[in-house]
Amino acid sequence: MTKLPGRRNARTLENVITRPTILGILFIANVIALALTVFVSPWWGVLLAVFVFLDLVAVYDVLIQKKHTLLRIYPILGHARYILESIRPETQQYFIERNFDGTPFDRDTRSVIYERAKGLGSKKSFGTERKITEPGYEYIPHSMAPSRSVNANPRVHLGGPGCTQPYDVSIFNVAAMSFGALSPNAVRAMNKGAAMGGFIHDTGEGSISPYHLEYGADLFWEIGPGYFGCRTADGDFDPDRFSERAALPQVKATYLKISQGAKPGLGGMLPGDKVDEIIAKTRGVPVGEGVVSPPFHRVYSTPRELVRFMGVMRELSGGKPVGFKICAGSRIEFLAVCKAMVEEDITPDFIVVDGAEGGTGAAPLEYSDRVGMPLTDGLVLVHNALVGAGLRDRVKIGATGKIVTGFDIVKRMCQGADFMASARGMMMATGCIQSQLCHTNECPVGVATQNPKRWQAVDVDDKANRVRNFHDATVQEAVGMLASMGLENFDQLSPSMLFRRTSDEYAETYAELYNWLEPGELLTGTRFHAWAEDWALADPERFWYPELHGGAKPAVEPAEEIKTVELAAMPAGAQAAAGADVHGGSADAEQVAEDMQDEDAEK
Ligand SMILES: Cc1cc2nc3c(=O)[nH]c(=O)nc-3n(C[C@H](O)[C@H](O)[C@H](O)COP(=O)(O)O)c2cc1C
Ligand code: SF4
Repeated sequence: MTKLPGRRNARTLENVITRPTILGILFIANVIALALTVFVSPWWGVLLAVFVFLDLVAVYDVLIQKKHTLLRIYPILGHARYILESIRPETQQYFIERNFDGTPFDRDTRSVIYERAKGLGSKKSFGTERKITEPGYEYIPHSMAPSRSVNANPRVHLGGPGCTQPYDVSIFNVAAMSFGALSPNAVRAMNKGAAMGGFIHDTGEGSISPYHLEYGADLFWEIGPGYFGCRTADGDFDPDRFSERAALPQVKATYLKISQGAKPGLGGMLPGDKVDEIIAKTRGVPVGEGVVSPPFHRVYSTPRELVRFMGVMRELSGGKPVGFKICAGSRIEFLAVCKAMVEEDITPDFIVVDGAEGGTGAAPLEYSDRVGMPLTDGLVLVHNALVGAGLRDRVKIGATGKIVTGFDIVKRMCQGADFMASARGMMMATGCIQSQLCHTNECPVGVATQNPKRWQAVDVDDKANRVRNFHDATVQEAVGMLASMGLENFDQLSPSMLFRRTSDEYAETYAELYNWLEPGELLTGTRFHAWAEDWALADPERFWYPELHGGAKPAVEPAEEIKTVELAAMPAGAQAAAGADVHGGSADAEQVAEDMQDEDAEK
């Protein structure tokens, strides 16, 4: 047998201080405290009382509770592990994290957001701390002749054919976040900030709550598969209710949420006890009844139906811009949608591309970490597909996914985006400290909680100013960078202006790193073999491809049955967690968080 060096007879702290040792020490301590109390001074009784309390804890740990093995083996001491575990994120953030390596947003980035939100100059002295010659580092080239005039309030025109109420959107906006995931005062602050700054406040899929209307900001109304705010009693899309709400003057555009980067292809469930009067009214569901938000849409099952539905939505909304939001997945599927657009001659006015790095109120780790395309790949795909299909001039591209600085805006535009939105950046402007407890209903700063004691502490006026300041300063930084590049308009940006270090020795532009299609190239026969193959396969009649999905397509089951199977297959915790973007923290989600901490501590 191979000996493990250094482990033979190892007497680590863990195997010396086990239950007998701990209980033995406690017993001796009790005896000493008792003796001191009786023979020296009654004041020692205080110490005795502490030990008696510890005796009770030990009895509970060893004899009563059965859930935590750790506490049964290490009574009393085991609690230290739980306490330390519970403050691990804060310890990491306050004492260990370096300026540039915190996640999802590093300290430098968070500081920039806070400083800009407070209206302070976000300057840094002594130069960069980034490793600027490491692979992956990205930068833009400046010009020897910076521009003298750049439009300081750049806006992007949304409105292709069929759109009779076009809208010029800011290049930086508040991304989709539902009331429920966010607290009432956080929604109010974002709404007021967006109204003051003239940018979009996206409702998220939880529909238009009273808080979204309070200060009159321009809204994007997002329609998820739950059709909240425009659903029939059995959860279908209700055209009349949609028309009615889409006609609100604040609603500047409507769009379908197909998928979200942090959890693409996942539905959710809102437990009945969370459906209070405001939520019920906002979403159009009965008070106190659980609501299912399936992962799939009922309004389409083929690319052609999706595209036709874009036309229906536009008509029902009185000609306002329409679109859909996706985290890109399969190129063939997206090309099938483009083919359908060409054949039907119907296009959405915009498509929002969310990166897999995107945020959420709660999602299973597997989804956040492993499903969907990162924003760069998604943007390159969607932009190229639209260009190749000859549709790019009809459809604008929005981008979401960690876009919080001027550089992020410029970079995403180089990759094909026209306008951006930020969710977590706007949360931080509203006070979020990245404690990552959104799914527990215990948000320490009242941004992502429905607990009134917490959310009432958010000062709407102050945070609205911060949201507006953050928007304005970020746009101004992007404008400044554009001028430094010697450009005058954002639409002059191109892939050749963004560099990425690919090794210690080389940096390449995005023009060199990716294949970029010419307008209409897919229709006339593309030079790029892989694109040509996928375009040939793409079929407006199906989202299912043997090349992607393998085997024979299972018979289509009725929507009701599919819904039941999918949700039943999801563990209860995942159902609640999956719904938490839409619905906010739930009792189940809290339980999941608690269990996770227990498991972690018991490892
Ligand atoms: C708390 C929270 C709630 C969200 N709710 C929604 C939602 O209702 N609908 C949606 O499409 N995306 C939702 N998202 C995703 C964001 O809209 C956005 O796509 C994603 O977070 C990427 O942007 P970010 O990196 O700026 O956060 C949510 C994100 C967060 C953080
Ligand atoms: S729980 Fe933490 S991460 Fe979520 S909004 Fe509140 S402070 Fe931010």
